[in-house]
Amino acid sequence: METKERVPVIWLEFQSCSGCGESFIRSMQPRMEKVLFDLISLEYTELIMAGAGSAAEEHRKKIMAEYPGKYVLVVEGSVPAPEYLFIGGHSAYDILRETAEKAMAVVSFGSCSSWGGIPAAKPNPTGAKAAADLVKGKPVIRIPGCPPIAEVMTNTIAHIVIFGQIPELDELGRPKEFFRHRLHDKCQRRAYFDAGLFAESFDDEGARQGYCLYKLGCRGPTTYNACAELRWNGGLSWPVQSGHPCIGCSEPNFWDQGPFYER
Ligand code: SF4
Ligand code: F3S
Repeated sequence: METKERVPVIWLEFQSCSGCGESFIRSMQPRMEKVLFDLISLEYTELIMAGAGSAAEEHRKKIMAEYPGKYVLVVEGSVPAPEYLFIGGHSAYDILRETAEKAMAVVSFGSCSSWGGIPAAKPNPTGAKAAADLVKGKPVIRIPGCPPIAEVMTNTIAHIVIFGQIPELDELGRPKEFFRHRLHDKCQRRAYFDAGLFAESFDDEGARQGYCLYKLGCRGPTTYNACAELRWNGGLSWPVQSGHPCIGCSEPNFWDQGPFYER
């Protein structure tokens, strides 16, 4: 691969649990060292940067001024109404608007940033909104998931760095490469679904036999994500493989769609 200059990345974190950042740093392919030392220059991120306070805020502004149109803005977490979250004396919304203005592209990591997420669950006390919905006049890539799969995040960033353009997106703004399949169509329990063999409780014989989890509330039939193909933790497993129904954590409004468990 031709040697490319590392692309500056500013990673803003608003109403989030830091799960997206925690997932990101566990990428195995490409490994995190490769991402940080060869692909991007992570200039600002509350989770792992050494700087803090005014020095960190000044550095964010310096990168925006030095690399207009050349840095990638990553946003984690939802954006509350202005009175609920201030960083360095500025509201989350103002920081997002200011930082997005000169970004090459904006990438929304996680369901909170992409759709509103858990902070937006009824009655949405902080007026949380998806960061992706608030950015205007810029390409916004949604990488939903609670959290997203590490390799989906790092490979999307790698695509931008290597090709200098954003990947092909579906109608909801998600990279087609990772969100084109229903989990149900790639699930290793699918043969049991087709045969009408279901676990009826978490500890019955059907569960022990690895039968389909549909009757326990699995949302795989309506969820688009790469969990069944890429799996988690470097390809080790995914929720359904380990015996837990999919709760549709990458789908819009998954948090308000009835109970996660049917029994
Ligand atoms: Fe579909 Fe879920 Fe059953 Fe897998 S476990 S076949 S995703 S309903
Ligand atoms: Fe989320 Fe379902 Fe994958 S709950 S992690 S989309 S299996």
